[in-house]
Amino acid sequence: MNASPKELAKASAGKEPGTAWQVRLETPADEAQVEALNAEGFGPGRFAKSAYRLREGVAPVAALSFVAVEKMPDGSEVLRGSVRFWPIRVAGHEELLLGPLAVQSDQRGRGIGIGLMQAGIAAAGQGSWRAILLVGDEPYYTKVGFSRLPPGRVKFPGPVDQNRILGLSLKAGELLTLSGEVRRAQIDEPVCANGAGVG
Ligand SMILES: CC(C)(COP(=O)(O)OP(=O)(O)OC[C@H]1O[C@@H](n2cnc3c(N)ncnc32)[C@H](O)[C@@H]1OP(=O)(O)O)[C@@H](O)C(=O)NCCC(=O)NCCS
Repeated sequence: MNASPKELAKASAGKEPGTAWQVRLETPADEAQVEALNAEGFGPGRFAKSAYRLREGVAPVAALSFVAVEKMPDGSEVLRGSVRFWPIRVAGHEELLLGPLAVQSDQRGRGIGIGLMQAGIAAAGQGSWRAILLVGDEPYYTKVGFSRLPPGRVKFPGPVDQNRILGLSLKAGELLTLSGEVRRAQIDEPVCANGAGVG
């Protein structure tokens, strides 16, 4: 059976410089490129989204922030994609919010988005979180195990399409009992009412 280009790219991941991507933890040096990728993927409207309200003033979980990079023949590393997870509180317990997830526009369809999420989900499984929530397209996120929550089970701040609220259990069956208001986790940096950083 012939392998598709995507399968070939996955099979050679990490073996052939310049032809394959790899996933590694994000470092502080990646920050500017990750921000540029999210700006490209989501545009300025991203700051108005309900999920963004939950991220304001709260740092992403560093141990779950991954980037996909590709080594070029000259030895340089190009950033192809990024995923971050934010801590949130649901009924008083800390859970996770997946996103933003973004892949460079001309690099999509190579399995990078799925690979980034799989790395994050595997790492999250090592922690004490019970579940991951996100707001997104069900057909895409079912590929890594997410499913739609019954309407009204969890309540996000601001208007959110109930059909786009998805969840994944990190401990068996946790999604069945997860319910309540989704709130921002402990604030790391004070923010103004309009969302701008103080000072
Ligand atoms: C969504 C996104 C991260 C996907 O990244 P990607 O690296 O192209 O995804 P993958 O290569 O891992 O997966 C591609 C597969 O998912 C499918 N897919 C991609 N986006 C999809 C969507 N929104 N709905 C349904 N299927 C989708 C593709 O058709 C493809 O299917 P196939 O494997 O059967 O051919 C990328 O398109 C992106 O950065 N978009 C802009 C930002 C965004 O919308 N992020 C998601 C919201 S948090």
